[in-house]
Amino acid sequence: MILIIDFGSQYNQLIARRVRELEVYCQIEPPEIALETIKALQPEGIILSGGPASIYEPKSPKVDKGIFDLNIPILGICYGLQYMVDSLGGKVIRSAKREYGFAQLHIVREGKGIFAGVTENTRCWMSHGDTIDQLPAGFAITASTANTPAAAMEDPVRRLYGLQFHPEVVHTPEGKKMLENFLFSVCGCRKSWTMASFIRDSVEEIRSTVGDRKVVLGLSGGVDSSVAALLLHQAIGNQLTCVFVDNGLLRQGEAEKVRSLFKQHFHMNVRFARAKAQFLDALKGIVDPERKRKIIGRVFVEVFDQEARKIRDVDYLAQGTLYPDVIESRSAFGGPSAVIKSHHNVGGLPRRMKLKLIEPLKHLFKDEVRLLGRELGLSDDMIWRHPFPGPGLGIRIIGEVTDKRLSLLRKADAILLEEIKAADYYGRLWQSFVVLLPLKSVGIMGDQRTYEHIAAIRAVTSDDAMTADWARLPHDLLGKIANRIINEVRGINRVVYDISSKPPSTIEWE
Ligand code: XMP
Repeated sequence: MILIIDFGSQYNQLIARRVRELEVYCQIEPPEIALETIKALQPEGIILSGGPASIYEPKSPKVDKGIFDLNIPILGICYGLQYMVDSLGGKVIRSAKREYGFAQLHIVREGKGIFAGVTENTRCWMSHGDTIDQLPAGFAITASTANTPAAAMEDPVRRLYGLQFHPEVVHTPEGKKMLENFLFSVCGCRKSWTMASFIRDSVEEIRSTVGDRKVVLGLSGGVDSSVAALLLHQAIGNQLTCVFVDNGLLRQGEAEKVRSLFKQHFHMNVRFARAKAQFLDALKGIVDPERKRKIIGRVFVEVFDQEARKIRDVDYLAQGTLYPDVIESRSAFGGPSAVIKSHHNVGGLPRRMKLKLIEPLKHLFKDEVRLLGRELGLSDDMIWRHPFPGPGLGIRIIGEVTDKRLSLLRKADAILLEEIKAADYYGRLWQSFVVLLPLKSVGIMGDQRTYEHIAAIRAVTSDDAMTADWARLPHDLLGKIANRIINEVRGINRVVYDISSKPPSTIEWE
């Protein structure tokens, strides 16, 4: 196991993903972690991450310096390297020239350490304002760039290594090799982190936690809750009951799809709560996006609670929380400072229902959840589904949500998805959907004047939904979609394409 100390770099999760891609388990922990806890984890190696602070700022993050005496190999990256240098008696100064972007890295000493097998002159990605002025005793420089003489250093006796650049980003082409060297040559890790091994361990853990009690899970049909449900089902069979809330704000055919997959194909216990009327009643006359979101969230909790109470002896609530949520929620450095949109998650549930929480995916990244899903028998079609927001079509109808508008949107959205898939664009997009506008415009059909709704197509590319770009879909494809929507959905006579990026826009319109 590799322990990663989180000094707040935007690349932290990337370090963890690289380590896991190399089939070694790792955990990200905040710098406040106690030395005793670190010892108890028995890591084979420690990686000190980068971070935005300067080592000489009074409030810069610090981990217990006792880690340097544990006789565990340590790799410091960027701020992590500077922390190591400062802690061990070297000197870090603000450099005259800040260095951002590509740099040519010259390896001066390959040794048997980090640079074994790496090309002598290679590229690396720099992002730092501070630099090493004086190495601590026992260290030697192993690589340099034109601006940074101490771009890498090591003390092979104490097995302490430092890189000023970022080996975890793709812009350091041989970075993965360097991490591989650290894990296997320096730390002596074995490849043991695979989804098959994860399933074995989790199944055992879930069984011993749950015993003969029951678990309830909110199944949405999205990747995370679907995979969590399958994993729990594998562990405890029908002690698991899934609750699917049909809020009436779902895409066409969604409830049937979930029924046939989880009930008929996987033979799981799924209760369907049909609550469209409850949601639409609560949304009557509401046009403010935040109010809509809050109402949908509140009614969801009520309906779920009602349904779950019908199951006897439930002690646990399972959720498909992923590792990034866990890391971000406890990070002192990250996290959104302003609420842009109140996300509809099931956060209020455990408190209200007095249930214990089980989060079987809480140590996994999204790409691992997909691999796990495949291992558990989920089709590619399900694994690669676009994200769908909890408040569903409710936030894709601008203005009041009514049955009539839902029906228009559902039809238009189904056409869009059908065409996007047929043109083989689905896998290339982060999301694609239709938004129904509260505006009407004049059109002509046959010899008749029409005065009907406007639909907007939204299709974006993105890596993580934090930023997104509008997709450059071929004009012919857009034309075909617009044509079909206008011809087939009575009530829509105009289609527009959204060409805004995030930021400053957002992906969803509300
Ligand atoms: P925005 O609109 O903020 O969306 O750019 C970013 C991503 O989050 C999804 N989204 C949600 N997901 N509950 C969710 O689970 C929500 O309430 C919610 N609102 C937006 C959105 O679809 C996009 O992928």
